[in-house]
Amino acid sequence: MNKKETIDLLLYNVALEHSAIVQYLYHIFLITDGNITSEIESIARQEMRHLKWFAQKVVQLGGRVVLNRLEDMIVVGGPDWADMISKDVDAERMAIEIYSRQLELVKDDSVKRLLERVIKDEEDHQVEFSQLLEQIKKNSPEEERPTTQQDPEVVQLLNRFLKEEYGTILKYLHEFFHAKDCQYKDMMLDLAVESMVHMGKLGEKIGKMGGIPHIEVDVPLYSGGALQEKVMGELSYEQKTGEDYSQEIKTVKDPDLLRLLRFIEHQEEYHKHMLKEFLDRMRKLTVGDLRKKDAGSGEKGL
Ligand SMILES: [Fe+2]
Ligand SMILES: [Fe+2]
Ligand SMILES: [Fe+2]
Repeated sequence: MNKKETIDLLLYNVALEHSAIVQYLYHIFLITDGNITSEIESIARQEMRHLKWFAQKVVQLGGRVVLNRLEDMIVVGGPDWADMISKDVDAERMAIEIYSRQLELVKDDSVKRLLERVIKDEEDHQVEFSQLLEQIKKNSPEEERPTTQQDPEVVQLLNRFLKEEYGTILKYLHEFFHAKDCQYKDMMLDLAVESMVHMGKLGEKIGKMGGIPHIEVDVPLYSGGALQEKVMGELSYEQKTGEDYSQEIKTVKDPDLLRLLRFIEHQEEYHKHMLKEFLDRMRKLTVGDLRKKDAGSGEKGL
């Protein structure tokens, strides 16, 4: 297996982990029992680390990370919780099979070690999901119907925001994987993680309202160009999404939902601030560097 093939294989794994995360998120949003969802959440977080590790290997080998997903691998199941969790057991079993086959093919030692590690994690997940399934079947927890009356318009609005946050996560994660500047990299990760929190809260709210979350995205909005241009693009993007929240908040009556949207709106304000500050620092640095360079060449001249 040559380097190009190894990169393709790793990109496939990035997509496979991405698909697992999306499937688990659906279940986190649709299942209203906190004891069950907290277990799924901790597994989903581990899958995020897997995605990150596979993506970082792609970059190390000189490849470009693309955050695609495998639609066929996202199986939501339901409507009962036991069926949903049984789909998660299946997902883990398939991941173990796929990664074990890859282990036979891969030559790169570091990739081999990563695969071994991930296989162990997936085996553990398979056991955890199987136990969770047994528990659900035995206790048959009250699959309570949502307490709030479903309001299709509000669900639609929340789904629009959810989609936006999802797109934002992919955009910032992509920047995070490829950024060279440490501070920019760190900021992109922060912004991606905060967008994940927003997406999680929106999805949970949709589930509680008895709605169906739509974890979908149009083509991810990767921005190109020099760093300064990129940050400027991100700033105007944050401005646009922030305005969208502020605009829609005016129409919301439900106090609980209002609190959630205000919370997100406030964090979006801070995102803009972070990007602005970064841009200012960059501009100062550029001017400062030029002066230094000028002074340097002057000295040489003497
Ligand atoms: Fe995984
Ligand atoms: Fe897993
Ligand atoms: Fe934001």
